[in-house]
Amino acid sequence: MVKVGRAEEKLLREALKAMDNTHVLWGFRVGASVLAEDGKIYSGCNVESWISGLGICAERCAINHAVLHGNKKIKGIAIVTDSKTESETKPCGACLQYIFDFAENPEIKIFMAKVDGEKVLFETLKVKTLNDLLPEPFHK
Ligand code: THU
Repeated sequence: MVKVGRAEEKLLREALKAMDNTHVLWGFRVGASVLAEDGKIYSGCNVESWISGLGICAERCAINHAVLHGNKKIKGIAIVTDSKTESETKPCGACLQYIFDFAENPEIKIFMAKVDGEKVLFETLKVKTLNDLLPEPFHK
């Protein structure tokens, strides 16, 4: 089991809280939270549309929330889902690129865990760097 400190635990719990507000029509619930340059946590949830491409993933929702509050750099991100599939508790390719666009550096950590009801399942927690998951981001 991965050990986490208080700050990371808080990030995961804020992501869990954000899951209360997901708008899910066809997928599963996702919550995300980012630690921003102002030291605050901004969270987001997935918002679906019947037209799949119109919705937004939780990670990009959380980053946009941070940007709305004047933050253009993030220092870490947590993602939680109630997906039953192992491979789905991680940022999609589009979100990885977006995380890169706003990451303080490519070594920022991505905390990923499943939830069961109102609990983060810390035994499912995985921690990777952005660079692990997106070694060749698109940039100028
Ligand atoms: N989803 C996220 O919120 N984040 C990801 O990185 C991948 C997928 C959402 C989109 C959709 O609402 C649901 O999960 C199922 O794909």
